[in-house]
Amino acid sequence: MCGIVGYVGASPALLVLLQGLERLEYRGYDSAGVALLENGKLYVEKKVGKIRELVRSLWGKNLKAVVGIGHTRWATHGEVCELNAHPHTDNRGEFAVVHNGIVENYRELRQEIESAGVSYVSQTDTEAIVHLIALNYEGDLLRTVLKVVKKLRGAYAFAVISTREQSRIVAVKYGSPLVVGIGKEENFVASDIPALLPFTREVIPLNDGEVVDLRPDGVFIYDFEGNLLTKEAMHVPWDIISAEKGGFKHFMLKEIFEQPRTLSDTIRGYISRDMSLPFSLRDYRRVLIIACGTSYHAGLIGKYWIEKHAGVPVEVAYASEVRYANMPVGEQDLVLAISQSGETADTRFSALALKEKGATLLSLVNVMGSALDRESDHTLYTHAGPEIGVAATKTFTAQLAVLYSLAVSQRQDRQKEVENLLKVPHLVEEVLTRAEAVKNLALRYAHSKDFLYLGRYLSYPVALEGALKLKEISYIHAEGYPAGEMKHGPIALIDEKTPTVAIAPADRVYEKILSNVEEVLARKGKVIGVGFEKDERLKSLCDAVIEVPTVEEDLTPFLTTVPLQLFAYYIADYLGLDVDQPRNLAKTVTVE
Ligand code: M6R
Repeated sequence: MCGIVGYVGASPALLVLLQGLERLEYRGYDSAGVALLENGKLYVEKKVGKIRELVRSLWGKNLKAVVGIGHTRWATHGEVCELNAHPHTDNRGEFAVVHNGIVENYRELRQEIESAGVSYVSQTDTEAIVHLIALNYEGDLLRTVLKVVKKLRGAYAFAVISTREQSRIVAVKYGSPLVVGIGKEENFVASDIPALLPFTREVIPLNDGEVVDLRPDGVFIYDFEGNLLTKEAMHVPWDIISAEKGGFKHFMLKEIFEQPRTLSDTIRGYISRDMSLPFSLRDYRRVLIIACGTSYHAGLIGKYWIEKHAGVPVEVAYASEVRYANMPVGEQDLVLAISQSGETADTRFSALALKEKGATLLSLVNVMGSALDRESDHTLYTHAGPEIGVAATKTFTAQLAVLYSLAVSQRQDRQKEVENLLKVPHLVEEVLTRAEAVKNLALRYAHSKDFLYLGRYLSYPVALEGALKLKEISYIHAEGYPAGEMKHGPIALIDEKTPTVAIAPADRVYEKILSNVEEVLARKGKVIGVGFEKDERLKSLCDAVIEVPTVEEDLTPFLTTVPLQLFAYYIADYLGLDVDQPRNLAKTVTVE
């Protein structure tokens, strides 16, 4: 939540900051700002709204600064207004700070600051940081920051510049992501790799408890005790094109259509080897999967596969519920933390708490070098490339590919499963050829106020994921439910105006879900079916059917999810909503 970016070098910093911010906008987009060291003074510009508002207000200003920091905000403390937007400055206008995360003890700090005679003008926690720096400054920005971090509690990343030291940015990581980009006679810092891609692919992801002293001719990384650390840069395999829209109207649509390739890249990465794990899932008494949002839904599907193919009991829990629960966990447990970003605070901190209790921590992430990747005993990667749309799509199916590969890797004889999995990218391609039909259907239903998504067994998590996609980008209320549970209460919601999306491939629960569809019809509900092609029975019951190719039962989630992504996309686009940056959301949620 929130994106920060910083530049020191010889080029105009503003251009770098604005390009970086545009690529970080998915992290938060309620207001944005920059601070530049312009002719020895701080120049600050902030605007409510998206980056384009900031760009507009800077238009035509000939700013030549070669050092600066920028920020795009997702409000945590204080309403959305210019005063609360970042960068924040001290009373004398000598220091500017951009910050991502939460300073939990900022109220106490604010009292300390105000009792020193400083006026605190915003409602943010961030302002405490900049005043503390100004109050503690004794001629060296790095030393001052090292002193100040000892006073802060919470999870944060911030960057500071000062008129007192013109060629320097000092930035800190503690709980929120921060990556250093290495250039030639110029260096960068940002919350995430896509912001750096136009300038460099050599990056150093920082660990919690590290501070970087960024100068045009060098990058120096210290721990919080001030010890200089030696860290190698890593080369990012993603190129700038993979972080661009490539002719599609939205990133989300592009990412949906990328799935045949991202699936094939991910599957190829795993299928020939045994996951490169130095252990078997059967070495553990249970696998505990923790994740949030879409990654949690992938985990629910993974449970069925792992239990079926590896015979190991699997529990799946919301990461946000695990950290403060008294879950008995120990050395016999394998914790599998699933996170696209590898930065989600709920997932990371729960994973670390469980690791602390003795469990082995295996993570499944899309972002190499992310905090969770570095904190885990072992990591599996999805090879989906950068996902910019706030709604997760290609990374969900890539997570499924890894989970299925992991599950079947535990079998002695897995030739049939592997052969079937290898067909999935092509089958998804076939589903995508029917996008126009999904679009037409979406337009027919775009004005409904509520939706129910029903599924059983492997299709139950697909129903949850379909409903989440619709809610988050179209703001239409949608509820995903296990179809068999309807009769225990929620069936009361059914009426002519509430369409039900029934995910009903011909699998082991086919007959059961058709009975549930009948129950909906008996209450005058309209049903959109998602099922195998030429399923005349399903067609005879439903108002409309989205057809997917017939496939092995295990692999149905790959095919039934994709039309639901498209369905949500086309409704949101038809309603004229901001598909890639839906209201109130952020791509990476680094607060608890
Ligand atoms: O990066 P993560 O996979 O840990 O993110 C988890 C959720 O925040 C994420 O899946 C969220 O629910 C997406 N907006 C879903 O589209």
